[in-house]
Amino acid sequence: MAILKVARMGHPVLRAKAKPIPPKEIGSAPVQQLIDDMFETMREYSGIGLAAPQVHESLRVFVAGVRNIPIPAVLDNDEEMPFIVLVNPEVTPIGRTAEEGWEGCLSIPDIRGLVPRPLEVQVKAYDRNGRRIELVAKGLSARVIQHETDHLDGILFFDRMASYESLTFMDEYRRYWAKDDEDETDAQGPDAQKTASAARAEKAKTGR
Ligand code: NI
Repeated sequence: MAILKVARMGHPVLRAKAKPIPPKEIGSAPVQQLIDDMFETMREYSGIGLAAPQVHESLRVFVAGVRNIPIPAVLDNDEEMPFIVLVNPEVTPIGRTAEEGWEGCLSIPDIRGLVPRPLEVQVKAYDRNGRRIELVAKGLSARVIQHETDHLDGILFFDRMASYESLTFMDEYRRYWAKDDEDETDAQGPDAQKTASAARAEKAKTGR
């Protein structure tokens, strides 16, 4: 296992369309090693998601999640996103409801912004064992999955913002947007992440 160097905004790898991994190669040692290293890197930087292009590998795979728990058919618990690996994901919004939520990105350190995203998505992908999986994701999990899938297409969260008015450095985010944040420990902008406290702040704001 190794902690990998994270590409920052401006590196061309973040703007390239990543290549699919042939299903037969998912179980290969290099791909399995990459997945393990991506998990280690994501956890090192307190992210909730990390896509291969962010570690300079232009391949369609990302890791996400915060807990080592079984993956349910519907991911809908904002506090307990299971660790998942999605290879060659296809993401389809369910319904037309979109909502703004705070996002950050390990490739755009120390900045957050409000990004509108569909609230619920259907996901088809391969898992790390090369098996087809299908799941439905809601709320934070849906947001993370969309943010990471965007990375595979060279899209950054800035591109999805309806307005740049909400762009906020982390210090100011903590000061003005997450003031009730007693347990905010996350100094680096985690990828695609609302921390639990930010999720609470959003819930308070939206009444969700
Ligand atoms: Ni990101």
